Amino acid sequence: MTRAVTPADLTITPRDRRFGRGMAQDRWWMGGDPVATAFYNALSATFPKGEGFFVEAVRMFRDGADEKLAREIKAFTTQEVMHSREHVQFNRRAIEAGYDLTPLEERVDYRLAITRAKPPIVSLAATMALEHFTAILAHQLLAEPRHLRGADRDAADLWRWHACEEIEHKGVAYDTWLHATRHWTRWKRWKVKAKVMLYITRNFLVDRTSGALELMRQDGVSGPQAWSKLLWYLWIYPGMFRKIAGAWFKFFVPGFHPWNEDDRRLLRTYDAGIAERPVPAKQVRRARPA
Ligand SMILES: [Fe+2]
Ligand SMILES: [Fe+2]
Repeated sequence: MTRAVTPADLTITPRDRRFGRGMAQDRWWMGGDPVATAFYNALSATFPKGEGFFVEAVRMFRDGADEKLAREIKAFTTQEVMHSREHVQFNRRAIEAGYDLTPLEERVDYRLAITRAKPPIVSLAATMALEHFTAILAHQLLAEPRHLRGADRDAADLWRWHACEEIEHKGVAYDTWLHATRHWTRWKRWKVKAKVMLYITRNFLVDRTSGALELMRQDGVSGPQAWSKLLWYLWIYPGMFRKIAGAWFKFFVPGFHPWNEDDRRLLRTYDAGIAERPVPAKQVRRARPA
C-alpha cells in the first residue's frame, strides 16, 4: 500500500479572527442545552494549555525538517497560538456566565505533567494522537450542521473557525512524527503510536466525560440522570463520539496518514461562507442569570 502524504499544494493559512469580544455569553450558549454546552465548554477548558503543549512538542523535533515541513510547523504554531488566544477569551466568558473551570484545568495540568516527565518523543506521539482526535472532531463539526444547531452565532463561529484550521494542519504533527522517527522500523513506529493512541483515547474519553459531568453538576444536574443525558448526547444523538469512531479506528491501519482523507472541501466551503458573509452589526447579548 502506498502511503498518502500531505498534499503538495496545501498551504496552511492562519486566519487571524477574533470572536465574542465585549459580549456576554449565554450560560447555555448551545441552543439553551446544558448538556451540549457542558461538552463544548469542557473541551474548550483544555485547549489553551493543551494546544500550548502541542506546539512545544512539535517544535522540539523541527530540526532537520525539510523546507515544506518547516514552513508547516511555523503555520501550525501560529494557528494553535491563535486558537489558544480565542479559547482563553471563550473560557473567560464561560466563567463570567457562572462556571468554575478550575477542576477541568487541573486535570489537564495533571495529564500534561505525566507526559512531560517522559522522553520528548512521547509528547510528540501524544500530540500526534490528539491532533488526530481534533481533526476527526473538526471534520464532524463542519460536515454535520446538527452538532452546532441552535448555538449562539459568535460561539458557533469560533468553533467552526477552529475546526477549519484543525483540518488544515492535521498532517503537521504526524509528518513531524514521521520525521522524528525516520530511523525506526515501521513495526516500532506502529507499536508506539498504537499504544499511545489507546492511552490517549482512554484519558480523553474519561476526562472529557468527567469534565462535562462536573459542569452539569454546577448546573444542578448530577447522578444517573446526568450520566444518561450526557451519554445519550455523546453516543446517540447527535452522537459525536459514535460518529468519529470509524475515523478513529483508521489510525491503526497500516499506511495511515491524516491526509488519506482529503477533506479540503470543508475548508473551501468554510472560507467561501466567510467571504460571502456581511460584516455583522455589533450587538450585546444579555447573559442568562446563573
Ligand atoms: Fe487548535
Ligand atoms: Fe491542532
